[in-house]
Amino acid sequence: MAGAMRTATAPPTLDVRADFPILKREINGHRLVYLDSASTSQKPEAVIAALDDYYRHHNANIHRGVYPLAQEADALFEGARKRIAGFTGAPVRSTIFTRNVTEAINLVAYSWGRTTLRPGDTVLITEMEHHSNIVPWQLATQATGAELRYLEIDDAGTLSLDQLERELERGDVRLVALTHVSNVLGTINPVAEVVARAHAAGALVLIDGAQAVPQMPVDFAAIGADFYAWTGHKALGPTGVGVLNADAALLDSMPPFLAGGDMIASVEAQHSTWNELPWKFEAGTSMIAQVVGLGAAVDYLGALEMERVRAHEHELVAYTLEQLAATGGVKVYGPASADDRGGVVSFSVAGIHPHDVAELLGRENVCVRASHHCAQPLMARLGVPATARASFAPYNVRADVDALVEAVRGAQRVFA
Ligand SMILES: Cc1ncc(COP(=O)(O)O)c(C=O)c1O
Repeated sequence: MAGAMRTATAPPTLDVRADFPILKREINGHRLVYLDSASTSQKPEAVIAALDDYYRHHNANIHRGVYPLAQEADALFEGARKRIAGFTGAPVRSTIFTRNVTEAINLVAYSWGRTTLRPGDTVLITEMEHHSNIVPWQLATQATGAELRYLEIDDAGTLSLDQLERELERGDVRLVALTHVSNVLGTINPVAEVVARAHAAGALVLIDGAQAVPQMPVDFAAIGADFYAWTGHKALGPTGVGVLNADAALLDSMPPFLAGGDMIASVEAQHSTWNELPWKFEAGTSMIAQVVGLGAAVDYLGALEMERVRAHEHELVAYTLEQLAATGGVKVYGPASADDRGGVVSFSVAGIHPHDVAELLGRENVCVRASHHCAQPLMARLGVPATARASFAPYNVRADVDALVEAVRGAQRVFA
């Protein structure tokens, strides 16, 4: 039950399957039960049509042509930037396009991290980070002599604000970098609270919003983070585009990340000056069609209303937790209540390796991921090499959960 998530204006259930052409596919006589949206989401017709329309009717390079076709491409690209920035309550000027969230975090780690961090400084991350929010900080701290420290999780998969406070009291934390929603545990972190405490201690905050933006209302201004990074392909958009929302003054003070065309104001033989934001951080020809496609994706999600998306996924997660608990022999990782978690349920089945679980489910065309989920330090903390993971999107329905649970029970019978 969606419980507190239900409001008069936000009914908890959506059925938008007809908007997603791929869901009509059958494989080996089974309908597609796609429960791997935390890896990448499926795309609605509106996004596919926007890409098609762009290439059929408006394709030209941007920021350089004066002819009408180039102006159309320009208007589509920059128009999409306005709507994409607005989708997460971020200023247009400091909404930067990257290839994905990984590149957005690397932008900060290279441009801010390597020029700012010094020996004696600390970058504080958490045990539940994706490799994208670990490895860039390993490299940045190794290059600068700073220290990389971790906030621990408890057995319910939540962070301790007391430990955060103790770390901040050391006085050497320059950056706290954490995920908004865990891609393994589903934990929703109290990011606004973390930002308030980190800022009070003089530290900046970077948030990895890869799993949050697709499934809940996110307001960059209200959270108050210095950097908020997310990725288009998990939010119903195309691959090849990520977003960095950031504090404009901070971006102004940072050197460019990648260099070349478009990011310059002038180039002389021995030195150059930089373009204004956001283009200072967008070197070379941009991913124009992908940005246009992501613009269509945020329009689509906006029309669904993110409160409803959140309520819908909350309901599916609550139902999944209930059904898996009733199955027996299934261990679920992360917070016990759907109230505290996003649309991800990681689990293991007693006596069956997660890869075998996923393989057997795949035979029923139930698509779940089995791996370390690019979170090996978290796997080490949980004491497992891998988990199986079902993850949800607006196009999932209760029947998908039923298919999942039935397939898990089938796998248990195979191994019985
Ligand atoms: C929390 C989190 N961060 C970062 C990433 C990396 O996303 P991308 O490969 O689009 O950069 C993922 C993808 O699984 C993720 O779940």
